[in-house]
Amino acid sequence: MMAKIENKFYCNECGARYPKWLGKCEDCGRWNSIVENISVDEKTRTLGSHLNFQTLAVSQEKLDRKLSDISEFDRVLGGGIVPGSVVLIGGDPGIGKSTLLLQISAALSQDHKCVYISGEESAEQICMRAARLRADDSDVKLACETDVDIILNSLKDGVDFLIVDSIQTLHTSSADSIPGTVSQVRACAYKLINFAKTTGTAVFLIGHVTKDGMIAGPKILEHMVDTVLYFEGERGNSYRILRSVKNRYGPCDELGIFEMQQKGLVGVPDPSVLFLTQRSESVPGSVVFSGIEGTRPILVEVQALVSKSYFAAPRRTVVGWDINRLFTILAVMESKCKISFSDRDVYLNIAGGLKISEPACDLAVAVSLLSARSETAVWNETCVFGEIGLTGEVRSVSRCSERIKEAEKLGFKKIIIPTSNIGAKNYATEAVVESVENIMKIIELFGMAGR
Ligand code: TYD
Ligand code: MG
Repeated sequence: MMAKIENKFYCNECGARYPKWLGKCEDCGRWNSIVENISVDEKTRTLGSHLNFQTLAVSQEKLDRKLSDISEFDRVLGGGIVPGSVVLIGGDPGIGKSTLLLQISAALSQDHKCVYISGEESAEQICMRAARLRADDSDVKLACETDVDIILNSLKDGVDFLIVDSIQTLHTSSADSIPGTVSQVRACAYKLINFAKTTGTAVFLIGHVTKDGMIAGPKILEHMVDTVLYFEGERGNSYRILRSVKNRYGPCDELGIFEMQQKGLVGVPDPSVLFLTQRSESVPGSVVFSGIEGTRPILVEVQALVSKSYFAAPRRTVVGWDINRLFTILAVMESKCKISFSDRDVYLNIAGGLKISEPACDLAVAVSLLSARSETAVWNETCVFGEIGLTGEVRSVSRCSERIKEAEKLGFKKIIIPTSNIGAKNYATEAVVESVENIMKIIELFGMAGR
């Protein structure tokens, strides 16, 4: 019989398996990511063991979500915290992760047993923060510890919520490498997840992010947990956005919006008002887009600046939107509307620090670019949405009526929508609704001439 080659080594990043150790993974190209798998001895598994099947019914207890009273946080999780779930929260240093989680623990500790473990800061630092947040009289149980086995040992009496700041600082003696390494992070996360699933404790893990904004450590961490949230914001801007990128218990891409104030993070229940507050009068290059983020509509201002270029290759700079989509829209306008941007620098900005990924924003981008290019202001009570295809057609978008309703609520008088959305006329509005079927139509609508 031929001896079976065992693939005992595997890549921490992509999971590819190898019979021997390599410096670089041939699959994903990462260096130093291959480790040995110290597997459970196959022989110890009894041949006679079998599965216990169960039905699909869930106990009501598991379905009862717990509310934290911080409604923007509950919203991002899909309407409260599911017992036994594990939530990973990533974000840049100093963005406010520890602040948010301390506020949430304080709120939850009113009715539940809540433990906050910090491996990053001293108890004194945390108490000082709690004093700033006026949370120092709450019933949060605080401890500073990094050994995951000691942490779990101390929770034998049961606890409703466990907060760990941060997963990268934890270590366990059952994985033999230094804290912060991939195998340590994974081993600790595994123990915490196991704890959550067996006891029904909801666990929140704070995670560091790497330079390019991913949660540091193995990507597999994001697969292991139930929910992944990112806490984002711009330096110099007090607004913070909590975004769900994965959620086993609710919709993903849901947003929670907060403002960092002197006394901590305060939820912003009506973000459209917020994103439009600093908007000026009708000026060239500015138009408002009615977008849908998660479950709610949010209005944002799209700003464009088009200036004569002194570079061999003109500049294209984008904040808050996808640069490749900007290239596409510029190309469509160039070929379909005969409006050239090849000797112009183009700057595009979504005001307020929100990142938009919806294609429905295409039309607003095109309008702002045309407006900037022709130095013709769009009436500032105009709101726009629609997707643009490669042949210049304006395609329909989802949830049209909600977008119109939000625009009307904020006092917009004119709404420009795709013609194909008119067909499904399931909205009622006092505002003037104008429809466009292709990008050429916009030029007529705004009285812009190609140049
Ligand atoms: P922190 O929660 O420590 O960030 P992270 O854990 O993500 O690294 O937040 C630190 C920042 O928040 C710091 O720059 C000060 C600011 N902050 C306030 O503005 N108000 C407050 O009440 C608190 C507690 C912090
Ligand atoms: Mg912190």
